[in-house]
Amino acid sequence: MAAGDSFYITTPIFYVNDVPHIGHAYTEVASDVLARWHRQRGDDTWLLTGTDEHGQKILRTAVANDTSPQAWADTLVESAWKPLLATIDIHNDDFIRTTDERHEKAVTIFLQKLYDDGHIYSGEYEGYYCVGCEEYKQLDDLMETPDGDYAGQLVCKIHGRPIEILKEKNYFFRMSAFQQQLLDLYANQPDFVQPASVRNEIVSFVSAGLNDLSISRSSFDWGIKVPWDDSHVVYVWFDALLNYVTAVGYGVDDAQFQRRWPAVHIVGKDIARFHAVIWPAMLMAAGLEVPRAVFGHGWLLVGGEKMSKSKLTGIAPNEITDTFGSDAFRYYFLSAITFGQDGSFSWEDLSARYQAELANGFGNLASRVIAMVTRYFDGAIPVAEPDAAILAVAKKATDAANRAIDAFAINEALSATWQLVDALNGYITEREPWALAKDPADRGKLEVVLATAVRGLGTLAVLLSPVLTKATEKLWASLGGTGAIDAQPIDRAWEWTGGPSVTPLDGTLFPRIEAEAPAE
Ligand code: MSP
Repeated sequence: MAAGDSFYITTPIFYVNDVPHIGHAYTEVASDVLARWHRQRGDDTWLLTGTDEHGQKILRTAVANDTSPQAWADTLVESAWKPLLATIDIHNDDFIRTTDERHEKAVTIFLQKLYDDGHIYSGEYEGYYCVGCEEYKQLDDLMETPDGDYAGQLVCKIHGRPIEILKEKNYFFRMSAFQQQLLDLYANQPDFVQPASVRNEIVSFVSAGLNDLSISRSSFDWGIKVPWDDSHVVYVWFDALLNYVTAVGYGVDDAQFQRRWPAVHIVGKDIARFHAVIWPAMLMAAGLEVPRAVFGHGWLLVGGEKMSKSKLTGIAPNEITDTFGSDAFRYYFLSAITFGQDGSFSWEDLSARYQAELANGFGNLASRVIAMVTRYFDGAIPVAEPDAAILAVAKKATDAANRAIDAFAINEALSATWQLVDALNGYITEREPWALAKDPADRGKLEVVLATAVRGLGTLAVLLSPVLTKATEKLWASLGGTGAIDAQPIDRAWEWTGGPSVTPLDGTLFPRIEAEAPAE
């Protein structure tokens, strides 16, 4: 991508039936890092997140809590979902709620267009429904449980809860008509669905044949009314997927829509099918461009299972950030897990990586270098030609990290950057600036070592700014960087020359954690 291009990236919108856990936060952080990276490259970037508030799941939760679904959603959004963004330091450009008037209005416009163009018909539906997934299920998606509370019943493989049998008059979207167009899309744009494991699953799913999709419900009324029949509300997924276009002006602000759309969607692999099959079919029917890409990331596992509140394995993000801080949260999940694969969370692994990589690897490097410049040069950054080998590592790390981001390989971007952390630590150990400082005859050598080290730190501050937002801001101030750290061109991080002087760091970037981590 050329700098200045539009880069519109979205997170899934989150169900407000419960409070966030670290699985939700993981999706947010990954999307935020990609957005920050593109912003720092000068792209016309827009990060959208929000909440999914209609449907039976929310309605039932509200009723169980003796309140209305709107009041329930309002409370959860304000007390849990918006605060999550501050907890993990998300820089979103917009927050959409499916109960926003702008959304409801544009959904109505979209639906009416599909109806007028003959893509919708009324019919009879009979089938299995999982309220947890808010999805109609095929037998393949279900299993019989041998024991436990639901012994002998058919349960959803994802939620482990019994499904319901629905029989209703519904409106249907002629999704089957788009089978070939979808297969052509996957063939012509091989990176439309990523990673390959998710792509393969999607291609084989669509190759097996597509059914039409029931897109309305009449047995309850918590949803957007179908414009031509107000005894029906729009199926929650049909409503939810549209947030990606209603938030950027679909149907009401053409200039904004043209500027932003199409988007890159970051989603968990469990909801990739909705995004890579139903959603592009809906867009095709409306004559709109399909998304630029759908990336399905893996699950955070606890005890080998997908973490979830309903299975009581959920961990709240602030349980981690209260002790380790938001930078460590962001770094840990993105560096320890290959983006696109499942990963297990453990407190031990988090603590060990915090100590080894952030505190000892990066934080200590910054403290030592700044302290030495302060002590030996009174804070004035020595002016000397930096070491060519280290400079080459910095250039390689910058290029490799930027390439990795284009391939959604966030963990690779971090490991490429860590090559520079390790190279700088090795360089300092080998050159022993504290020994050079003892002999005035070595002054020139000392200047080169510290000029090189400071230059490397500047590169690291710029390259790590999308992930370690707070530590790099601190480091940048201490290095005397001009302008905001997140405005430094990230594709030229290695060119940073900095100076003229450092000021001592206010404490360390990653303090020692004395407190016991909460028990698992
Ligand atoms: N409301 C729908 C999405 C609609 S998008 C038009 C939804 N919401 S959700 O709150 O259940 O999930 C939101 C996201 O969190 C999904 O991408 C899901 O994959 C992700 N995660 C939920 N549990 C997770 C883990 N244990 N690990 C990683 N991500 C997980 O689905």
